[in-house]
Order: sequence, then structure tokens, then C-alpha cells
Amino acid sequence: MERVRKPVIAGNWKMHMTCADAKQYMEVFLPLIKQTPDDRHMVIAPPFTALSTMSERVSGTSVELSSQNVHWEDKGAYTAEISPMMLTEFNAKYSIVGHSEPRKYFSESDEQINRRARSAQAHDLIPIVCVGETDEQRERGEAERVIRRQIEQGLEGTDPEKLVVAYEPIWAIGTGKTCESSEANRICGLIRKWVGSSNLIIQYGGSVKPANIDELMAMSDIDGVLVGGASLQPDSFARIVNYQNY
Ligand code: PGA
Repeated sequence: MERVRKPVIAGNWKMHMTCADAKQYMEVFLPLIKQTPDDRHMVIAPPFTALSTMSERVSGTSVELSSQNVHWEDKGAYTAEISPMMLTEFNAKYSIVGHSEPRKYFSESDEQINRRARSAQAHDLIPIVCVGETDEQRERGEAERVIRRQIEQGLEGTDPEKLVVAYEPIWAIGTGKTCESSEANRICGLIRKWVGSSNLIIQYGGSVKPANIDELMAMSDIDGVLVGGASLQPDSFARIVNYQNY
């Protein structure tokens, strides 16, 4: 199948992997992606502390790096935050923003997420902006309204050509429950319509694994995946990156 939008397959390591773990991982992972076609982007989002090691490991390969967050200021009194230049120094190309975990544990608002996304774009980092509904919101029939609000507020003033949106239903994250691929595709199609850009890259995230990647990637509006748990094992993430085109 000829694709117009180049898929982005991203592994989010979350709070896993020391530098030593990352080195071991890459020793196994890199040989497994030697034959991977260049019709897809391969991205890993390590914790900040492993960015330096990872930037050495990916140099000369087609693996790109993402951070797991980015602040809206270039520098200043923002304890525990990370500035865009601290990321581009290690060749990060993407930044995950608005993941449901910081939204939930640190009460990140759509306004803060928007500032992070705009700051990323201003520094040539592509924000991967995560949106998605909770189980209760879906049960109450509010999923579309919630996602639309996250899209409208989170993406205000951003350039859709330098953006990835990840649709991650919260009830599917880390639970083993994947959203039906047809339903994930339907929501991704709505997001594309709301953003109004046929070039926008839209990922699905939530219990993506080797067993469901080919089916997800066969969907017309799913242009990649954001993978948590299954990206922590190099062989399983390699299988995901090496998804089959139908
Ligand atoms: P999961 O996480 O693949 O472990 O469900 C996805 C994510 O949080 O991005």
C-alpha cells in the first residue's frame, strides 16, 4: 500500500532504563532493524538521563530520539523541568507532550500542554501531543467531546505540518486492552477532520504489541503508534517497527 504520510513508530520508555540498560538494549535492537525499510520513522523516547548515551548509540542509524516532555521557557527557575535546547543538544527530534500520565499525576492542563507544544515547534522539535478519554468518559458517551476539547485547546496556534497527534484512550494504556482498530481509526479520522490537515500524522497508542501492530497499521487514518510496555523489550519493539505492509 502506497502511503502519503510517512508513519512514525515511537517507543516511550517512560521511567525505565538506566544508561547501562539502554546500551544493552541497543546492542540487541540495532541488528534487528538493519533491513527495516525507510518508509517509516523509528523513534525512541528514553528518560532524560539516557539521552546522552542514546544520542551516541543512534548516531549513524535511522533511529531518531524523542524526549518525554519539554518546557515552554528556554531557561529559568523551573525545578525538575527540561528546556528545548537541553534536548536538541542531544539531537532529539520529537517531544512527547500531554501524555495521560502527567495529565493525571501532575494535573497538566491543556493550556500548559499547548505552551509545551508551541515551544517545541519553535525549537524544531516535533511535538507528539497525546489525547484520549478515560473509561468513564467513554461510558458516558463523552469521548468525542473530550478529545475535541484536548485538540482545540492543546493544538491552538501550532503548525499541523510539524506535529504528531497520538490518540491514546486512557483505558487502553498499560492495561492490555487495545481499542478495536476500526474504532481507533474512526477517532483518528475525526481528529484529522477537526485539525483540518490531510498531512497530519496521527498515531494510535494503548497496548500496542507485536500481535496487533500489523492490523493497526493497515488502518487508513493510523499513521503510526506510540508504544509503552512493548517497547521495553528490544525484540518486541523491533517486531513492531518491522510491521508488515499489506
Ligand atoms: P502501553 O503505553 O503501550 O504500555 O499501553 C502506551 C503509552 O503510554 O504511550
